[in-house]
Amino acid sequence: MKRPLWLFFFLFLTLSAQTLTTEANYDESKVGAYTLPDPLLLANGKTVRDASTWKSQRRPEIFRLFESEVYGKSAPKPSKLEFEVTSREAKALGGDATRKEVTIWLTPKQKMHLLVYLPNDTKRPYPVFLGLNFRGNHAVANDPGITMSTAWMREAPGVENHRATEASRGTEAGRFQVKTILRRGYAVATVYYGDIFPDRKDALADSIIPHFYRPGQTTPDPGQWNALAAWAWGLSRVMDYFEKDRDIDAKHVAVWGHSRLGKAALWAGATDQRFAMVISNDSGEGGAALARRNFGETVERINTSFPHWFCGNYKKYNKDVAALPVDQHELLALIAPRPLYVASAEDDQWADPRGEFLSAVGAGPVYSLFHATGLGTDQMPGLHQPIMNTIGYHIRAGKHDVTEYDWEQFLTFADKHWKAR
Ligand code: GCU
Repeated sequence: MKRPLWLFFFLFLTLSAQTLTTEANYDESKVGAYTLPDPLLLANGKTVRDASTWKSQRRPEIFRLFESEVYGKSAPKPSKLEFEVTSREAKALGGDATRKEVTIWLTPKQKMHLLVYLPNDTKRPYPVFLGLNFRGNHAVANDPGITMSTAWMREAPGVENHRATEASRGTEAGRFQVKTILRRGYAVATVYYGDIFPDRKDALADSIIPHFYRPGQTTPDPGQWNALAAWAWGLSRVMDYFEKDRDIDAKHVAVWGHSRLGKAALWAGATDQRFAMVISNDSGEGGAALARRNFGETVERINTSFPHWFCGNYKKYNKDVAALPVDQHELLALIAPRPLYVASAEDDQWADPRGEFLSAVGAGPVYSLFHATGLGTDQMPGLHQPIMNTIGYHIRAGKHDVTEYDWEQFLTFADKHWKAR
């Protein structure tokens, strides 16, 4: 029997509509009921009642689940890391700062470039804000002395054929607020995330990951790292360098990130407890936002658009998020008892601001084990009403971005926790 062609088209369209829930939900009344896993409930059914049981039993359980089911297990610290200071300029930014550039050799063949600004008017060692950037180190400040990145880049202002041009200098300066941070006595450090894993679906071969394959391995196992874990791993390698740099106070390193780099910063804070403070800006799905809340981006959407970000196992939950053995409040709990700040933006509904807030609420019981006040409330604050306990939170007006307002809060939060150092 001959079937008309249009019937096949019709079937094709119906099937593809079913494979991906096309419309994101932005209606609070349609979020639906969900039950979050209890961070204090051990796999053996007992409840954690003190910090030492958390540290020795429950934290490792949760950590391993995130490692095998969400971000993937990363390679250990390389045995042969090499650091090469390639430039030092004591009168950068009109004399306000010392600029250093450091090449970090991750393997004898793979390197990443670190840019550091130190404030000139206070005494070293300096506490530091460390964050990855999207557009190359030369994009974070209007400073012609920064070496331009020659790496592959996503298209952006001043980027041509995936390579940075002079016109891209300073194009990410608004997000970094270098002078403001320096003025408050903190150093600024950054690495281009593409030095670790170029942000494309087909970039695995150019990333750090194959350098750590077992003999004969050609692709990561389903429980092994992918781009997000690789970016987080890169942040830890900067920490390795800081431990050897006498300009930096390695006990006061705040790791921060925006959006996908906020997800990476949270995972860096979870995997590496040397980071004394963690800041997530608009990190959304797979970052601070609860996965089980059906609002904005979903697990299925993120795994479909960005298959190279999370580990293979995470894809199992595309259609069944309730089966995830963890949720993101437990990622935040892995940071306890260190100060943690979660920032949202009102117009960034894709990242689910309420889901980011509720996740911070959900980490609270773990902070309590350490006699620390997490957020100290379960009432979401209005716009521009920051909460600053051991967990901090704000939602500001405006879009998905990092603004002066965000930095004002991060700096106040750091002052509050670190002033007495
Ligand atoms: C996309 C993605 C988000 C991510 C964001 C970003 O919108 O869906 O998950 O946070 O990009 O990194 O800017």
